[in-house]
Amino acid sequence: MKKFLVIGNPIAHSKSPIIHEEFAKQLGIELTYSKQLLELDSFEEDVLKLFENGIAGANVTLPFKERAFSLCKHVTDRAKLSGAVNTLYIKDNTLFGDNTDGEGLVRDLVYNEVTIEDRRILVIGAGGATRGCIPALLNAKPKSIMIANRTKDKAQRIVDESNSEKLSALGLDEVTDSFDIVINATSSSVYKELPVVSSIIFSEAIAVYDMYYSNEQTSFLAWAEKINPDVTLINGLGMLVEQAAEAFYVWNGVMPKTQAVRNLLSNV
Ligand code: ATR
Repeated sequence: MKKFLVIGNPIAHSKSPIIHEEFAKQLGIELTYSKQLLELDSFEEDVLKLFENGIAGANVTLPFKERAFSLCKHVTDRAKLSGAVNTLYIKDNTLFGDNTDGEGLVRDLVYNEVTIEDRRILVIGAGGATRGCIPALLNAKPKSIMIANRTKDKAQRIVDESNSEKLSALGLDEVTDSFDIVINATSSSVYKELPVVSSIIFSEAIAVYDMYYSNEQTSFLAWAEKINPDVTLINGLGMLVEQAAEAFYVWNGVMPKTQAVRNLLSNV
């Protein structure tokens, strides 16, 4: 039976095993999927050992996505563009890396009936989460994507590394416009903090997305709702499910349906 894992640090909170087991059940595929904590100082060795011992694939979560990217012999185009890997597998005896996060975000926006084409998008943050989603967002043909970060240089670097004219960068304190879609890709919600940015960003928004998920409304979405009560509010749970579906497809060659898992997780 094929064995899969999600690896990260911390990892106890991960819902990936529930998601993948449900997909496997739905499609009648026999596999095991568990979670494993990896130590910060031996990530690379440990990953290679896991594959030597016969695992078929692994999802990578915080804080290892950039290190997983560096470890791979081959990466897909979307992983290369994002500089981060969340899906590992062996092909022709070689470690391959892919990144399904961006596809997960776009598929969740589609699920929530938010059109991306021709929209002005603001992405707040310039870490791995932002890098992971930019290629898929660009593919969906937005009008523009502004990356705004507390540390402007990091946002500028992502723009400089891309050759898209649709991307631009600002410091958070320089943002003075409203956008159609606002995406929080910072880790601020983890700490129940808010990025210090003008609330004008929400005033014309049709959708506000927080990549973080929790059973309560996130601090970022609560703030957006206060400023613009009509806006569609979306947390990162759907993205988690959709990126998992895309990883399942990469590994098993079949695309699971996500509605049952969405229902299951909203009751966990
Ligand atoms: P990830 O891989 O999840 O993106 P990361 O690489 O540590 O994590 O990046 C975290 C992002 O959240 C960064 O853009 C960080 O801003 P800085 O680059 O200025 O550090 C942003 N961030 C975290 N906490 C924040 C806060 N309270 N306000 C604004 N931005 C915050």
